[in-house]
Amino acid sequence: MGDNGPVGESATGLGVGEIVDLLATGAARPLRDGSSVSQLDHALQTAALLEREAPDDRELLAAGLVHDIGHLVPGVGDDAHAGAAAEAVRAALGDRVADLVALHVQAKRYLVATEPGYGAELASDSVASLANQGGSMSPDEVAAFGALPLAPAAVALRRADDSGKVEGLVVRDLGHWVPLLQGLS
Ligand SMILES: [Fe+2]
Repeated sequence: MGDNGPVGESATGLGVGEIVDLLATGAARPLRDGSSVSQLDHALQTAALLEREAPDDRELLAAGLVHDIGHLVPGVGDDAHAGAAAEAVRAALGDRVADLVALHVQAKRYLVATEPGYGAELASDSVASLANQGGSMSPDEVAAFGALPLAPAAVALRRADDSGKVEGLVVRDLGHWVPLLQGLS
């Protein structure tokens, strides 16, 4: 864990300390052009929203915190960010966290296909990335996703992801989450 060299394009097997350091770099990365919400704010808000929904599911909370860490790895494009994030955290945080992270883009595509009005509510950055991510799911893809044991938690993560973009919202800081991450490693 964490012995694969500096964080770069192939950031796999990060340790908890490296994950926390990478998340902290998100403080300097606006979520989108002109937004005062940073990638770190978004991570913290997503985890905080999930804590309200499922306070005992520590793996889901961790997944919410790290789901967009792929955006903070140099050289990783938007279409690869979910997979990159999953592999970055799998060794330290476990398969369920990594799989939930990997599914957060698919969960958006699932909700666009299955929930009337969902697509219209998406933030502009999520709409912009949807086409590159495959657009709405086909009926076969919907059936396959819906059959996954992780589907309900992946959808919960996605809803928190969509809502965790509020300018000026004050939530628990990164230090609050470190013991939870350490407890999973
Ligand atoms: Fe996100």
